[in-house]
Amino acid sequence: MKAVVIERFGDPGGLEVVDLPVPVPAPGQVLVATEAAGVGGVDAVIRRGALAAYGFRAGHVLGSEVAGRVSAVGAGVDRGWIGRRVWAFTGLSGGYAEQAVASVDDVLELPEGLTGAEAVALGGSGVVAHFALERARFTVGEAVLVRGAAGSIGITAVQLAARGDAGVVAVTTSSAGRGERLKDLGATHVLNRAGEGGPEAPTGFDVVIDVVGGPRLPQFLDRLNPNGRYVAVGVIGGQPPADFGVRLMDSFRRSLSFATFSSDTVPGPDRQAVRSSQFADAARGDLRTVVHEVLPLDQAAAAHREMDAGEVFGRVVLVP
Ligand SMILES: NC(=O)c1ccc[n+]([C@@H]2O[C@H](COP(=O)([O-])OP(=O)(O)OC[C@H]3O[C@@H](n4cnc5c(N)ncnc54)[C@H](OP(=O)(O)O)[C@@H]3O)[C@@H](O)[C@H]2O)c1
Repeated sequence: MKAVVIERFGDPGGLEVVDLPVPVPAPGQVLVATEAAGVGGVDAVIRRGALAAYGFRAGHVLGSEVAGRVSAVGAGVDRGWIGRRVWAFTGLSGGYAEQAVASVDDVLELPEGLTGAEAVALGGSGVVAHFALERARFTVGEAVLVRGAAGSIGITAVQLAARGDAGVVAVTTSSAGRGERLKDLGATHVLNRAGEGGPEAPTGFDVVIDVVGGPRLPQFLDRLNPNGRYVAVGVIGGQPPADFGVRLMDSFRRSLSFATFSSDTVPGPDRQAVRSSQFADAARGDLRTVVHEVLPLDQAAAAHREMDAGEVFGRVVLVP
C-alpha cells in the first residue's frame, strides 16, 4: 500500500511516499481502507522533529485520524464491523496511508450524510473544544475568547460557545478573511494575534480557550475577568515565558484559574459519546465542519507547506 513517511525530520520536503506492507490488525484492532486522512497541527510538530524525545524515528508514518470502510478485524473484534464506514483515531501514526489500523474502542460508525473529509475535520478536534469549554465551566452569557480560532479546535469551540449563548465570542486570527469566516460561524469580535481589536473590542473575558500558548500567553491571562478561567489546549506558538508562574501568582487577588487540558485524559467512552453526538449534529447541519482543501495522499508535503505558511483555515484532508 501507499503511505507517507518522514524520511528526514525538518521541512515538508522530508516527507516521502513509499510502498509498505498492509498492516495486520492486532487483537482488539480494526483495519480501515482509508477514504480520508486528516492533516493535523500535531503532524507538523512531529515532522519538524520537535517531539524527538517521544521516540519518533525516520520511516514514521504520520497521521492520527482517518475515515473509511473497515476491511478486516483482529482477534476478539466483532466481525460485524467489516464493511461499516467509520471514523478512526490511529494514535500519533499510521493515518497517511491507504490502510490504517486502530483500536476498535477508537472507532465510530459514520452517520448517513457525513463525508469522510467532514469526519476527519471534526472527529479529533471537536471533542477537545467540547471538553475544554466544560473544563472552563463555561455558562450562558459569559464572555469567551478563542485564541488561535482558525484551526479545527477553534472552529468548533467558536460554534459551541455561540450555541451555548455566550455573551461574547471573541477570536484571535492574523487574517481579516479568516475573521469574517469565524464571524459567520458565530464569533462576535475579531482580534489580532496580540489581542487588539479596536475600540469595540471587549476588554475582559470570563473564559479563554487557548490553542497557541507561546510568549504572549501572560498578556491573555491578564485579560481574564475576576474568577475567570483559562484553559490551554495547545502550544503551536511554543512555550510561555519563564516568568509565567510569577505572572500567574500576581493575579492572585482576581481568583483566576489556569488549567491545561488534553482529551487523552477523558475516559474513552465519554469522548466517543460526545464525538457521536457532534457527528450527528454535523450530519444534520447543526455543527459546521471546515475542510480547507482535499489533496491526493502523495501531496502530503504540499499540505504541510500550506500549514507551515499559515494558509490553512480548518483541516487539510488527504485522499488515497
Ligand atoms: N488538548 C488536546 O487534547 C489536543 C488534541 C489535539 C491537538 N492538540 C494541539 O492543538 C494544536 C493544534 O490545534 P489546531 O489544529 O486547532 O490549530 P492549528 O490549525 O494548528 O492553528 C490554529 C491557528 O492558530 C494561529 N496560529 C498559528 N501559529 C500561531 C502563533 N505563533 N501565534 C498566534 N497564533 C498562531 C493560526 O491562525 P491565524 O494565522 O489566523 O492567527 C492557526 O490557523 C497543537 O498544539 C496540538 O498539539 C491538542
